[in-house]
Amino acid sequence: MNLNEYHPRDCFLPFHRRDKRWAVVVAHRRAGKTVAVCADIVIGALETALPRPQFAYLAPLREQAKRVAWQYLKDLTKPFWSKKPNEAELKIEMDNAHGGVSVIYVGGADNPDSLRGLYFDGVVIDEVGDVRPSTWYSVLRPALSDRQGWACFMGTPRGRNMFWNLREEARLNPKTHMLLEGGPKGRFDGETPNVLKDGEDLDIPPYLRKKRRR
Ligand SMILES: Nc1ncnc2c1ncn2[C@@H]1O[C@H](COP(=O)(O)OP(=O)(O)OP(=O)(O)O)[C@@H](O)[C@H]1O
Ligand SMILES: [Mg+2]
Repeated sequence: MNLNEYHPRDCFLPFHRRDKRWAVVVAHRRAGKTVAVCADIVIGALETALPRPQFAYLAPLREQAKRVAWQYLKDLTKPFWSKKPNEAELKIEMDNAHGGVSVIYVGGADNPDSLRGLYFDGVVIDEVGDVRPSTWYSVLRPALSDRQGWACFMGTPRGRNMFWNLREEARLNPKTHMLLEGGPKGRFDGETPNVLKDGEDLDIPPYLRKKRRR
């Protein structure tokens, strides 16, 4: 699915339309967080008018980032590639709407040093709960300062981790943060994850499914 074929799920429309610098999205498993956030980065990369724009998609582990997002990002950007994506560096270069070239990096928070020295105009951190706070506070946050870049944090609630703190920060600062919450358990009303069949979450290994019947 390239960006022209992407239809946001209803629950993510307010996310794509946000006008806040910081966004925290709390959603249940398989809600479509990774797809939405990848599409959002591509939209940002297309629309920016800044010189030499740079964006990043990060997951807790580089391997995980590659597994879950690299293919989505390649598919979404394909019509705009200015050269073939670099598989070794997980780097996509695409023509943007202002005649420039935007770069999207895919990386892991397990190797934060590889991100040092870069600036970013937008970053998304997927599965934030599993990312070490120092990666955000001492590596990524400063990389957004140069050009007032934006950040988006995506996750599923699981105890009091950094994601919980970020969510509190968003809740307390509605002027600067967008908080998109999918209900008390992270479930969006009226929205069924596409992996549910007869009440079973097909994403859960068969031997665990019975316990999780909804
Ligand atoms: N807008 C969309 N259009 C078509 N398919 C979608 C869309 N959003 C999500 N999907 C599909 O739904 C499934 C779940 O999407 P995704 O991986 O983004 O969910 P997630 O919330 O990140 O899941 P997880 O909790 O496992 O990280 C995938 O098969 C994906 O291709
Ligand atoms: Mg995901």
